[in-house]
Amino acid sequence: MNPVLAQRYLKGLRAHLRLNGRGNGDGAQGLGRAALAAGMAPVDLAVMHEKALAAIAVSQDFSKNRAEWFKRKAYFFTQALIPLEAAQEAARRSHSNLQQRNSTLRLHTLALASANRRLQSEVVRRKAGEQQIRKGKEHYRTLFLESQAMQKKLRKLTHQIISAQEDERKEISRELHDEVVQTLVGINVELAGLGRGAAVGVRTLKAKIAHTQKLVENSVNAVHQFARELRPAVLDDLGLIPALVAYSKSLAARKRLKIQMTAFGGVEALGAVKRTVLFRVAQEALTNVARHAHATVVKLSISEVAGAVRMEISDNGKSFHVRNTLLAKNNKRLGLVGMRERIEMVGGSLAIESAPGTGTTVRAEIPFTESKA
Ligand SMILES: Nc1ncnc2c1ncn2[C@@H]1O[C@H](COP(=O)(O)OP(=O)(O)OP(=O)(O)O)[C@@H](O)[C@H]1O
Ligand SMILES: [Mg+2]
Repeated sequence: MNPVLAQRYLKGLRAHLRLNGRGNGDGAQGLGRAALAAGMAPVDLAVMHEKALAAIAVSQDFSKNRAEWFKRKAYFFTQALIPLEAAQEAARRSHSNLQQRNSTLRLHTLALASANRRLQSEVVRRKAGEQQIRKGKEHYRTLFLESQAMQKKLRKLTHQIISAQEDERKEISRELHDEVVQTLVGINVELAGLGRGAAVGVRTLKAKIAHTQKLVENSVNAVHQFARELRPAVLDDLGLIPALVAYSKSLAARKRLKIQMTAFGGVEALGAVKRTVLFRVAQEALTNVARHAHATVVKLSISEVAGAVRMEISDNGKSFHVRNTLLAKNNKRLGLVGMRERIEMVGGSLAIESAPGTGTTVRAEIPFTESKA
């Protein structure tokens, strides 16, 4: 117990008891406030009050005004108690306030917890979804890679077929020239001898022999023409430009088409495979013009562009829808597709432009040096 305060209390109480009904208890409330400030509880105040009373009672004469004395000391104590009671009441109130807030907080916490649970299950659901998407992506990527690998294989196979085809053409062409044509020429020589040796008057026989000779001659020309188309020997012997000149001349004569050609001599520096590719592309493009374009003039030009050879075949005929033709389902046409395959096989590129009113242009470019493609 605070001795200074106990002393003050004793003094205050004594003075109050001495005043005999004139004190209003203000001093008691002041002491109560001091007790509160010193951290005392009502029970501590009661103890302090009892001790003060005991000290006063020693010298007190109880013979008169005993009842009054008891009333006054009780009054003093009640007054001193007021600040402590008030403080306790305030504490009680703030405690209940706190409790109320606490329960509100608890409700909030519960609501938060359930929202959290919902969020967590949403996160789990999303994660599963993401996983699914990732798996799908991986699946498509695998499919894409597989299809790329298959395309590569297919391309390789096509290239092999084209190369084999070229070799076979070369062989057939040589056989036609060397074997079939020679045999036909031999037959013709025989027929001529027979014609000369036939007895005069056997007119019919002579006429028949002459007719057969004509037929054989036509066959020789047809076989020559076929052999040239299959694989012009000129291409191997003299080069691309003479082969194209010969081919253009023969096509122009047969199809009544004007073919204008300009060429850059350096093209012969290309390897045999690349020259053959250019010949085949020109052959296909020119055949297409003759077959489909209804053109009157075709321009064939071979020029040099940065590190490459460019060949263009332009006609003034009717145009066609290139994309639709190439992408058409069940496209069994091999001309345009084959052109592209051949060009890409040697690391080049092919473009086909066709527009109403301007006709069609096929543009092929082949690099001089080998590309890794
Ligand atoms: N210069 C052109 N002018 C107009 N149409 C063309 C020309 N070149 C091609 N075409 C059109 O494109 C189509 C496809 O040509 P492609 O060369 O692929 O096939 P094709 O010539 O019909 O048959 P093949 O397989 O014997 O070459 C042709 O059928 C034709 O309709
Ligand atoms: Mg064609």
